[in-house]
Amino acid sequence: MSMQAIVYFFHITGLAIWLGSLIIFALQLQQMRHYADQQETLLPSLTKLVKWLLNPSAFIVLVSGVALILQMGLMGTTKPFYLNYMEQFGGVVILLSMIVLFIQARGIQKSLAKSQTSKHHLQAKARNFAISMIGSTVLILSVVLVVSMKLV
Ligand code: HEM
Repeated sequence: MSMQAIVYFFHITGLAIWLGSLIIFALQLQQMRHYADQQETLLPSLTKLVKWLLNPSAFIVLVSGVALILQMGLMGTTKPFYLNYMEQFGGVVILLSMIVLFIQARGIQKSLAKSQTSKHHLQAKARNFAISMIGSTVLILSVVLVVSMKLV
């Protein structure tokens, strides 16, 4: 197996875990609205998973993407539109999503640690968390669509 195949494997696997987690976590946060007592059990585990699974897999997509560009000798060359879109727009989406979700996860963890935080306040934070996840999903899917169509 070539080095490029391994890096490519990481790019696709990272993408699968990242996108899959975003969709499942957003759905779980929506579900939580109907079961208020889940705030104490679901939110701590979800925020941990964002930090230790979701964001790391997004980072793997970024690092493996840069490695692929270097390995394929595409650095500084004229690339088809879909590659430029993936590299530039995709790269920004990865960084933005990681930063926003990290800040939101930390905010929720801090609220959970305070005993006087109201359920209503936590619910609002959880909703914003879910909105960021759905936003990230839509932006990622736009990259997947452009790459699928191989727009030049
Ligand atoms: C939202 C972020 C991203 C998504 C959804 C994504 C998705 C994909 C997909 C589905 C492929 C397989 C299609 C193919 O091989 O033609 C791919 C390949 C590739 N990706 Fe990404 N990617 C993302 C970010 C990046 C970034 C940030 C870079 C570079 C800095 C990058 C560089 C590449 C390269 C060089 C290939 C191989 C292209 C080829 O074989 O023609 N990707 N990506």
